[in-house]
Amino acid sequence: MRKEDWLYVTVRCSPQAADAVHVVLLERSGNRGTVEQTSGDALVVGAYIPLDENWSTRVGEIADCLAALRALFPDAVIAGPAATIVADKEWSEAWKQEHKIQRVGRLVVKPTWATMPPLGPGWVIIDLDPGMAFGTGGHSSTRLALEALQAALRPGHVLADVGTGTGILAVAAALLGASRVYAVDSDPLAVRSARANCRRNSVEAVVEVQCADFLTEVPGDLDGIIANISPHADATLASVAARYLKSEGYLILSGFTSQAEPELLETLSDAGFEVQQRFAESEWVCLSCALGRAL
Ligand SMILES: C[S@@+](CC[C@H](N)C(=O)[O-])C[C@H]1O[C@@H](n2cnc3c(N)ncnc32)[C@H](O)[C@@H]1O
Repeated sequence: MRKEDWLYVTVRCSPQAADAVHVVLLERSGNRGTVEQTSGDALVVGAYIPLDENWSTRVGEIADCLAALRALFPDAVIAGPAATIVADKEWSEAWKQEHKIQRVGRLVVKPTWATMPPLGPGWVIIDLDPGMAFGTGGHSSTRLALEALQAALRPGHVLADVGTGTGILAVAAALLGASRVYAVDSDPLAVRSARANCRRNSVEAVVEVQCADFLTEVPGDLDGIIANISPHADATLASVAARYLKSEGYLILSGFTSQAEPELLETLSDAGFEVQQRFAESEWVCLSCALGRAL
C-alpha cells in the first residue's frame, strides 16, 4: 500500500475522556499509533486508518465505541469521528472514483463531480459533496435509510434527521416533499458539510441544520424521526423519540447490523414502538417503526 493511502480520523474530546478515546482509536483503527493535539480547552486525538476495503467498517466501529464512551463520560465532549483523506492528487482522484452515482428507489445520489445523462420525469436527484462527513449513499446503512424514508414520508411531513452527516437524508426528505426538516449532528464538520449540501440542492429554506446532541434542539410534534448512527445511539434515541412524535409518528433507525437487532427491538418495544417494516442489505438492518400504543 502506498504511504499516502490513509484516512486521518480525529475525535475532539475533553481531557477526562482522552485516554479512553486513544484506546478506541488504537483498537479500532487497524494502526499502531495515535496522535494528540490541543484545541482550546479540548484535545484532538487522531489516528490513521489504512484505506483498504475495511475502512468504512473501522470508522463505523469507532463511531459505535464513541457512542458508548459518551454514556460513560456524560459530562465530557466527545465529538466525531471526523475523517480526512491524507492524499496526493492521485489518491484524490481515486477517492472520487470510489463515489459512484447511487440509485435508491426514485432517488439518485450523484457526487458533485459526476456527470449524468438527463433522466426522465419521476427521478429525484441529490447532488452531494461528501467532504469530510459520512453519508454518500455508498454505505448500506444510508441506502436502507433512504429506502425506508421513501416508504414512510408523505408531502408536508415535518421530520428530524439525527446524525445528519453530509445531510443526505435531510436533503432527500426535503426533495421528496417534507415541509420542514430539523437536521442535527454533534460534529461541527458534518454540520458544515450538511449546510453546504442543502445549499447545493436548494433546500436550505426547508432544512435547518444544527450542531446538537440527539433531539436536544428539536421541537416536538414531528411526523417522523430518522437516524443512521450506531446501535447504541439508536437505542438512546429510541428511548426518547416518542416524546417528540405525533401519536401516529414514525421512527426510522439504521446504522446497525442484525447482531445488534434483538437488543434494539427490546428497547423499541419498551419505548412503545412497533416495527412496521424491516429493510436489510448484507448484514445491515434498518427498522421503520410506529408508535404502537399511547405512552
Ligand atoms: C453514520 S453517520 C450518518 C450520516 C448520514 N445521516 C447517513 O445516513 O449516511 C452518523 C452521524 O451521526 C453523528 N452523531 C453521532 N452521535 C450523535 C449524537 N449523539 N447526536 C447527533 N449526531 C450524532 C456523527 O457525527 C455522524 O455524522
